[in-house]
Amino acid sequence: MNVAILTVSDRGAAGHYEDRSGPLLVELIQRHTTWSITQQAIVPDDQATIAATLRAWCSAGANLILTTGGTGFAPRDVTPEATRQVIEREAPGIAEALRAESLRVTQHAMLSRGIAGLRGQTLIINLPGSPKAVRENMAVLLPVLPHALALLTGLPGTESDHQTIRSA
Ligand code: MTE
Repeated sequence: MNVAILTVSDRGAAGHYEDRSGPLLVELIQRHTTWSITQQAIVPDDQATIAATLRAWCSAGANLILTTGGTGFAPRDVTPEATRQVIEREAPGIAEALRAESLRVTQHAMLSRGIAGLRGQTLIINLPGSPKAVRENMAVLLPVLPHALALLTGLPGTESDHQTIRSA
């Protein structure tokens, strides 16, 4: 699987502060999966730039794009809007799960407007900007991502791989 990491931050892109969330995402993917990090970048909170980067990475064959930052209420926070421009199908359960689990840690979780969705064979997921939030969200995501990407890319055996949590 090819994974791309996009940090969205005006100050990070201008070099005014060190991006810690992008490198943390790289570290977590490398530690917990066998996937390759094929792209990584920092862009400012500009909707057109974010959308163009996401599109380019989808075309280049990314199977998973994780964004960090720009999901809040500040006027420049437009990562969800850029993502919505690019995706073809929403994956609302992912954003719902991230917010639900994050609410158990902090009430501020409700201030993230992050979304998730699919474009072709790429899953795009918005995460909040802080390293703490990245760590907490990835703890929710990592157990589910292998199956999500197997379904998306049509890997054989995917259907028999479903975990039965509750039997009817
Ligand atoms: N989610 C988790 N799990 N942990 C956090 O600390 N911080 C919240 C929220 N989601 C947080 C979280 C805060 S304070 C904000 S403002 C929003 O994410 C949006 O963050 P962003 O604008 O950096 O994307």
